[in-house]
Amino acid sequence: MTHNLNFKGEKVVPVRDGQTILQASLDAGIPHYHACGGKGQCTTCRVLVLEGQDKLTPPTAPEQIIKRVKKFPDNVRLACQSQVKGDGVAVQRLIRDAVDRHIFVDETEENMTSVIGESRKLALFFIDIRDFTPFVEKSLPFDVIHVMRRIFALYKNAIAQYDGEIIDTAGDGLYVVFGLNSKIREATESAVLAGLKILSDLRIFNNTYMRPYFNHTFEVGIGVHVGRVIVGNVGIGLSQNLTVMGFPVNIAARLQAATKELNNSFVISAVAYRLLRKPPYAVGCDYLNLKGVSTPYEVKLIGKPYESKDAAVLARTIQE
Ligand code: FES
Repeated sequence: MTHNLNFKGEKVVPVRDGQTILQASLDAGIPHYHACGGKGQCTTCRVLVLEGQDKLTPPTAPEQIIKRVKKFPDNVRLACQSQVKGDGVAVQRLIRDAVDRHIFVDETEENMTSVIGESRKLALFFIDIRDFTPFVEKSLPFDVIHVMRRIFALYKNAIAQYDGEIIDTAGDGLYVVFGLNSKIREATESAVLAGLKILSDLRIFNNTYMRPYFNHTFEVGIGVHVGRVIVGNVGIGLSQNLTVMGFPVNIAARLQAATKELNNSFVISAVAYRLLRKPPYAVGCDYLNLKGVSTPYEVKLIGKPYESKDAAVLARTIQE
């Protein structure tokens, strides 16, 4: 019996019972990489299964071993070890030229999912120090860096405790995601708990360190939102360097920026707030006009009003 197999973006090829995907593609003239000659050892023949995964034969013993070692997700199969048992299977070759081969098959490869890229629902967390510049201007360079290291250590401690992943830093701010290893409800709760811990630890740091030694205190702004984003590694040389992109990321960043306007240190979207099993007391609810969103965006204020004077002046400007 013969089935049709769709090599997405290339051609549909016939594949006979007993024939592997690799044999079928080579017979059809597709230049399919197969460095080990189809022994299930090199992984250069690997394909991403887009449709009809249940119509493939189960992984052979060599494929099972290599999938475990390389941490391949279920939808990545070795073409030389897989046969097709029905119509409606669509695959995509992952290694189509020498550059692909360099990207996918090198000694630093650890997690195929991050290389392929995937769509995930995550909690997105932005934090920034309010009014850091005055401290920079009046302090010695050594003190600026030392204090930043103390504050970042405080951030990192809370983020690690709640299983967050730092994606990016910019000046005195951080962009973090929660949910790479958990479901979205738990991820949202973790993001909120990490944020509340940072606010509480920062209060202690201000009282026990900053005020006595520097006669200065810091405040921060935190924004949290949830949404479906693209997660992957764009390969700038750091194998663990994840990139997380998508419109929800822009919203989370905007919520962080809005903390000053709303005069509250922690702003969370109402969408995220509704996911919390035990939501913290929200001192207020507000609406923001966001670029690309037609209706005002509902947010909850779960932090504290700022103590600094200029924040009060800026407060409550959004709806005016
Ligand atoms: S050709 Fe080497 S693993 Fe398939």
